[in-house]
Amino acid sequence: MQEAIILVGGKGTRLRPLTNHTPKPLLNVAGSSFIRHQIARLMDAGVEHVVFATSYLASLFEEEFKDFSQDLEISYAVEEVPLGTGGAIRNAARLLRGGPADGPVLILNGDILTGLDLGAILARHKDREADVTLHLTRVPDPRAFGLVPTDEAGRVLSFLEKPKTPEECVTDQINAGCYVFSRSVLSAIPADREVSVEQETFPELVAQGRRVFGHTTEDYWRDLGTPLAFVHGSADLVTGKATSPLVAGPVEALIHPTAVVDPTARVTGGSTVGPHAVIGPQVVVERSIIGRGVTLAEGARIHESVVDHDSSIGRESFLHEAVVGCHSHVGAQNELPGRLRLSCGIRIPARGVRVSGTAVACPTVH
Ligand code: GDD
Ligand code: MG
Repeated sequence: MQEAIILVGGKGTRLRPLTNHTPKPLLNVAGSSFIRHQIARLMDAGVEHVVFATSYLASLFEEEFKDFSQDLEISYAVEEVPLGTGGAIRNAARLLRGGPADGPVLILNGDILTGLDLGAILARHKDREADVTLHLTRVPDPRAFGLVPTDEAGRVLSFLEKPKTPEECVTDQINAGCYVFSRSVLSAIPADREVSVEQETFPELVAQGRRVFGHTTEDYWRDLGTPLAFVHGSADLVTGKATSPLVAGPVEALIHPTAVVDPTARVTGGSTVGPHAVIGPQVVVERSIIGRGVTLAEGARIHESVVDHDSSIGRESFLHEAVVGCHSHVGAQNELPGRLRLSCGIRIPARGVRVSGTAVACPTVH
């Protein structure tokens, strides 16, 4: 039986306020929660049982899948206190059904959008008689990731999580957050305390001379853990740059049938517009995520941003790489600075914020 563990217990702090009430893997991406895209890929690869390693807002995962009727068994390994990535794997391994003879287990971070061929990494693991096989990818700036240098045969030489100094940046080859573990290795991780798979388990396995290999590919890959990566990942799914069994085909934008979009508005670049959203005249939405019940007034421009559910953006306001939390209101003619994150329920009055050179007339008489 092919089984998988998905690590979904993190707090998703870099995606706040979107993750204030929703765990990162349950955020909506290209029309479905992100975890559903991952599940669909796993099912396509023949996975029959998935264990979710949950902690933060754990009950919402069971809520999400309570009516799931497809041919996949789902179990939940809940951590009252987060056990770290290694502790989470060991804790989730208790719920695996198969025995040692049942072949290796797939383990995935819950925020990885990837085109990796899961069958290929499983086959590679088997061919090399590996203890662990890590999916590796190359990125222009590896500092936010785990660095994994390998020798010519693909054997992992060391594992360096989030290098701090330029000297530590020994490679641009990074841990892509998808592993194949032989079952016997799982039981070697301590179960009773917090353990980081990246900082403890992998370096220890390498030091012990265990058969730890990398599987480096050039497939599409993105960690959706930051706001910009999140909007880009969603747009890539809509435009077909990234694929998911749940997204029908490349389109310019994914607009929910209950949303109302004025014919003079332009929604492009792989944007998504959620249920009951209202997009006014002359609005431009580019490569952005517009949540359920959001209103965008005439002439608003939304660029590479997320506007979470039940918020509104006033006339001629401009958002660039911004995140607007739910139930917020940005009044007319605001220009939000790039990378701004607005908490839930915030109200910005008309012409309250501007970043470009054009001075705003004083709205009150002193
Ligand atoms: N159950 C559980 N318990 N899950 C956890 C815990 C925990 O204590 N801590 C983190 N997770 C989950 C998160 O929910 C996420 O799905 C996954 O583990 C990875 O955590 P992130 O917070 O997203 O880590 P990262 O992106 O900084 O780094 C990781 O991913 C990179 C690739 O995207 C590391 O694995 C890096 O080595 C890797 O390069
Ligand atoms: Mg991540």
